[in-house]
Amino acid sequence: MGDHPIYAALYDRLTRPMEEGGLARRRGQLLSAARGRVLEVGGGTGANLAHYPADVTLTVLEPDGAMRRRMLARDPALAIIPTCTEDADFPPDSFDTVVCTLVLCTVDDLGGALARIRSWLRPDGLLLFLEHVQAGAARGRLQTLATPVWSRVVPGCRLDRDPVVAMRAAGLAVTDCERFHLPRGNVFVGAAVQGAARLRSAA
Ligand SMILES: C[S@@+](CC[C@H](N)C(=O)[O-])C[C@H]1O[C@@H](n2cnc3c(N)ncnc32)[C@H](O)[C@@H]1O
Repeated sequence: MGDHPIYAALYDRLTRPMEEGGLARRRGQLLSAARGRVLEVGGGTGANLAHYPADVTLTVLEPDGAMRRRMLARDPALAIIPTCTEDADFPPDSFDTVVCTLVLCTVDDLGGALARIRSWLRPDGLLLFLEHVQAGAARGRLQTLATPVWSRVVPGCRLDRDPVVAMRAAGLAVTDCERFHLPRGNVFVGAAVQGAARLRSAA
């Protein structure tokens, strides 16, 4: 994937109503469970950075250079690896916590990315997630229809995914999952999940 300077420049402005409406509070709640060596997948402009406990060691994957520049402006010392999940290379059992927020809609190969995340987690590790998902019924059908156009406007973003089903298929046990509506969401991006998953053998 290439860089998206316009999307990166607009991202914080576009998401501000959601952040102020409760998304920032949810980020804080989710990330209070992060511990030890942490990998954040697709850090974007760095919206999560203010919410990590002070004692974690954070590594961030971010393939988009325009996003990386904004994240580095928030924390010039941040360890960012400029690649995507599918191409990242970590030994097995590298992380105590992996964090995915509003990113599993965007990865090209969802099942492949989750399989890699699973292999990077230590046996007692935790995947923390906060993701928008496909809604049920008529709204879900509308999301399916809108995805080809939407994913061009919002680079790579698919509205028709269920990351919780994909996590289970990738051998993760979802141990905590709250379904909610994103504050000030819209008919396309609204239904969401927040929770935690572990390796199935550890659950
Ligand atoms: C919608 S933004 C979310 C940013 C941030 N996680 C947040 O919560 O605000 C999605 C980010 O994921 C990145 N991304 C897209 N595909 C990716 C992949 N395959 N692996 C890692 N990051 C990816 C994009 O460059 C973008 O910065």
